[in-house]
Amino acid sequence: MKFCIIMGSPRLHGNTAELCKPFIDELKKNGAEVKYITLADKNINSCKACYACQDIEGEYGCVQKDDMYAIVDEIIKSDCIVLASPIYSWYCPAEMKALLDRHYGLNKYYGSATGSLWEGKSVALLLTHGYDRDYATEPFVTGIKRLCTHSNLSYIGMYSVQDEDNLASFQTEEAVNGAREFARSLINEMNKE
Ligand SMILES: Cc1cc2nc3c(=O)[nH]c(=O)nc-3n(C[C@H](O)[C@H](O)[C@H](O)COP(=O)(O)O)c2cc1C
Repeated sequence: MKFCIIMGSPRLHGNTAELCKPFIDELKKNGAEVKYITLADKNINSCKACYACQDIEGEYGCVQKDDMYAIVDEIIKSDCIVLASPIYSWYCPAEMKALLDRHYGLNKYYGSATGSLWEGKSVALLLTHGYDRDYATEPFVTGIKRLCTHSNLSYIGMYSVQDEDNLASFQTEEAVNGAREFARSLINEMNKE
């Protein structure tokens, strides 16, 4: 079982990265293969809305030959994609938003090409936020659930921790155990599918 963790914070060693540590450790302990990808050190341009990818059959087909291609390869090889992200302005940082918009070439809905390069894969969220969980995360969770429905992906859950004291908030027993439990729950969920 292969997990692709895509970490979207501009802080490579910030809160979200800290929460990823026990989560990834637990996935590995339970036999999963894990690819951890950070976005802040990659070059991912915004989608130019040219729709060229919609006429390219069987491959991603984006005209922008940037780091998105290597990430798409990892997504295609994975069973589960975990979007690990802080909430910024009720959604996500620009790095993660660029990646989300660049999903276009994975779905062939709007041109001569047909099919999907990723349908059936599972998606989960690992989030950090400053405000209370529901108030902070609801818009992003709703958006990702809708993207999953739109793309025939299976949304399998979310775990989040509130930033009350920067890194220390993500090192508490509760946060760490919660991340580990979430990892095990995703593996169980994937085994059912
Ligand atoms: C530009 C910016 C915007 C933010 N917007 C929100 C927000 O809308 N809602 C929220 O709950 N927290 C918000 N936060 C707080 C972060 O989500 C929180 O501190 C998070 O743990 C940061 O994770 P990181 O260190 O991985 O970037 C924001 C932080 C920044 C820097």
